[in-house]
Amino acid sequence: MTNRTISIPTAAPVSSFRCIACGVIRDNVSHDFRCTDCGDLLEIFYPAWHSEQMATNAPGFKALWQQRKTSRRAIDESGVWRFRELLPALRDWDQAVTLREGNTPLYNLPACARIAGVKQLYAKHQGMNPTGSFKDTGMTVAASFALQEGFRWVACASTGNTSASMAAYAARSAMRSLVVIPEGKVSWAKLSQALDYGALTCELRTDFDGCMRVLNEVVKQWPVCLLNSVNPYRIEGQKTGAIELLEQFDGQVPDHIIVPGGNLGNCSALGKALLELLDLGLITRTPKVSVIQAEGANTLLRSVREHGGKKLIPMQAQTAATAIRIGSPASWKKAVRVLQATGGTVEQASEIEIAQSKAEIGTDGIGCEPASAVTLAGLKKLVKQEFVKQDDIVVLILTGHLLKDPEFTLKFHRGDLFKGTEYEQQAAALRLHQRARVTLEPTADAVVKALEQAEKSTPPN
Ligand code: F0G
Repeated sequence: MTNRTISIPTAAPVSSFRCIACGVIRDNVSHDFRCTDCGDLLEIFYPAWHSEQMATNAPGFKALWQQRKTSRRAIDESGVWRFRELLPALRDWDQAVTLREGNTPLYNLPACARIAGVKQLYAKHQGMNPTGSFKDTGMTVAASFALQEGFRWVACASTGNTSASMAAYAARSAMRSLVVIPEGKVSWAKLSQALDYGALTCELRTDFDGCMRVLNEVVKQWPVCLLNSVNPYRIEGQKTGAIELLEQFDGQVPDHIIVPGGNLGNCSALGKALLELLDLGLITRTPKVSVIQAEGANTLLRSVREHGGKKLIPMQAQTAATAIRIGSPASWKKAVRVLQATGGTVEQASEIEIAQSKAEIGTDGIGCEPASAVTLAGLKKLVKQEFVKQDDIVVLILTGHLLKDPEFTLKFHRGDLFKGTEYEQQAAALRLHQRARVTLEPTADAVVKALEQAEKSTPPN
């Protein structure tokens, strides 16, 4: 094999690549994972799933996946590879590059449920993955295939989480990694991860979309495997978040799954899983998958509202939720398809709403990064619009860990997150959610006084 094409393993339960626009089917792909006929994105599909053998086997999958939870084999301990019947096959499963990703908790959110006006609200916390974000679930699959195909280098453009994850999986498998990030627009916590995992980290004086453009040129000139979510193996791994979620609901299907939207790979992946489970007869209906974007990076929302989801006009993105500061999302067509197929919708959240919702999620004892908090902000609107009903079971996908962006949180509580910005006046309303630090004399008396004071004030929830 050349280092520019990835071929399908010959002995695999059959999966293939299919263009999402022109439908052409191929057994191998070029370096940019795009259709060589029309230039659109590819997806992985499984023709053999409609065989008699699959019809016989599929009903046994749920029991098989449960049974693997007691196994000590690395791919069974992984909350991604445990579902490998629904993934492309590696030539040797035991060569999977895994950090035991997936296996993330489902929490109930009683305080947030009251705030949003629903009875049952849950968080699937994908920030509890090994590098602190959902990216690990896709990266284990994409890195494993890059390794299998003999790549020495992997690369991505990133707002921070993809790069942290990719660098870790590359380090685990002794591949080298190239990270291309927008200078000054990636939280230092994420940047520090890429450095520690040994990535060649290039900060470019542009935004995420500019980084992506540059990297697309680089992959034509250097034998490197692109690990952004245009890589369809990433999407396959990220599917497992939805499979695991349904397992955690014990067969019950929630009514809504609410996902933050950036490059729109994650909502595409979760939706793909649900539609495949439906196709295989493992569920009888899907939840509605809805996407929430930051107001300053709302291309999908505008595409759906203004152009019926038929075209997307890129924008200069701007939001303090830097993970989703993306103005030209690669997977928008896949996302539109998921919204349509599951009956979901798209909403947006303002900067103030994101900050407030993040603090509210905190009152349930669950931290997340700003980009994840758009989900609660969006849910409040969807309840007001009666798109989500009071009795519906709702799941927010929390995509990143609180510690991914500590600067945002500290500035929020200090009250200077919006200082000098157009939101400064509106931000006064956030005071209720800000927790002050108190500096005291080093005496028990002083601390007891602080306790007495705190006792008189309203608790956070
Ligand atoms: N939430 C977090 C915490 C993210 O890091 C991202 C994307 C998203 C949501 C949006 O997911 O792109 O699949 O729609 N982060 C990418 C990165 C772009 O480079 O880390 P998406």
